[in-house]
Amino acid sequence: MVSRVIPVDPFDLVIFGGTGDLARRKILPGLYRRFRDGQMPDGARIIGAARGEMDDKGYHDFVAAALTEFLPQRALDPTAVEGFLGLLGYITVDATGKDGWAQLAKRMRKGVVQAFYFSVAPSLFGALAERLHKHKIAAPEARIVVEKPFGNDLATARALNATLAEHFDETQIYRIDHYLGKETVQNLMAVRFSNMLFEPLWKNQYIDHVQITVAETVGVGGRGAYYDTSGAMRDMVQNHLMQLLCLIAMEPPSKFEPDAVRDEKLKVIRALQPVDLDDIVRGQYRAGADTPSYTEDAENPDSLTESFIAMKVHVANWRWNGTPFYLRTGKRMKARMSEIVVRFKEPPHSIFEEDTGQSANELRIRLQPNEGMDLTVTIKEPGPGGMRLVDVPLDMTFADALGEDAADVPDAYERLIMDVIRGNQTLFMRGDEVEAAWAWTDPIIATWTAREDKPEAYDAGSTGPEEALILMHRDSRRWRELTS
Ligand code: BG6
Repeated sequence: MVSRVIPVDPFDLVIFGGTGDLARRKILPGLYRRFRDGQMPDGARIIGAARGEMDDKGYHDFVAAALTEFLPQRALDPTAVEGFLGLLGYITVDATGKDGWAQLAKRMRKGVVQAFYFSVAPSLFGALAERLHKHKIAAPEARIVVEKPFGNDLATARALNATLAEHFDETQIYRIDHYLGKETVQNLMAVRFSNMLFEPLWKNQYIDHVQITVAETVGVGGRGAYYDTSGAMRDMVQNHLMQLLCLIAMEPPSKFEPDAVRDEKLKVIRALQPVDLDDIVRGQYRAGADTPSYTEDAENPDSLTESFIAMKVHVANWRWNGTPFYLRTGKRMKARMSEIVVRFKEPPHSIFEEDTGQSANELRIRLQPNEGMDLTVTIKEPGPGGMRLVDVPLDMTFADALGEDAADVPDAYERLIMDVIRGNQTLFMRGDEVEAAWAWTDPIIATWTAREDKPEAYDAGSTGPEEALILMHRDSRRWRELTS
């Protein structure tokens, strides 16, 4: 049932930061899976580029080790691994110096798709773009792929956009938000825009509220230095949660095409109201029985950075006036669970007795784990006992629907990289979208920074601070339970 694999055009993909963590964990394993599934043509080539000295053979060994570490044994077919390694080369390049660029220029082929993945710190984006240009390495239609964090605020995002724009056109720039590559996120668009069932009800008149939760059990240990300058607002809300909100709230685009989709998302971001500080709860995890506290992980005993945030957000337009969006995300929580819940209103008048158990419909879109969707509907409890009502889920768990094929659904990164090669920007953020997201985020962060707000402490393995529950209870609503 997994859809047909259509090979992409021949390409040269250069991964700057080719020995980095993201390359090892996500990019290279993802590319291997696309190769194994027959999506890469004969003319595909992948060149790792980094500072360290290594030859092609050394890189093959490095990548083979990464595949073994980050893919399940059953995914590793020895013939496929061998074939994949045969596509790989390596070049030692100094991003801010002169070394390696002439060699890279020689290796690039003409007449194939060229893509350059900047899997490096954003401070190096400018240097890379400039050198690709100066050494005439990138063809006019070459693509560059950049990772988050895309800026730390509006000013830095603008500066980054301006730096990239010196050498590349917007149509060549692919800003990754890997949440847009998740299967369920795309399915959300399919469900909204290819069924008559939901769209007429998709508005304030029928929807009580929307909840978006991205809860993680991991802490920030290992990347505390980055995270402490970022916090949950910059690390998760400004990008991933906001993208999810956009897909729920946007108007139907006229076509499933890059600018049509991105124009509609941009309108949502621009319609976000400034958030009242009383509608925000920030938290920081305490030490658990065997786990360090946030401040220990971040190695900053006085840190005021939040590892949890919950907030109530309003989209100021006709469709959503009066229907709040509650967002929450945090580290070291009770369960790893990402989901969107669309809670419909109760029927305007009940013909049943009050204690029959009637409630409201809920559409639940599960990003992970257990990807899928379910819709709770109220029915009569089967059997004798009179008219008793009960909520049952209409369940569409992808694993059930796809059976064994479910394990082969591409991971977010591999899907997005293939879109880069195809030249499809629909699932990538446009420069103005990123800037608009920062324009909304900046004043919120500035206010709590100015007030030196201290995040509320919460227990490791919990649902976050008590205040986050109160944020909902105040409105006579409640978060869905965190379960994995
Ligand atoms: C990243 C954040 O963008 O997304 C991380 O920087 C976070 O802090 C990660 O852990 C979550 O991604 P996923 O796909 O595991 O939900």
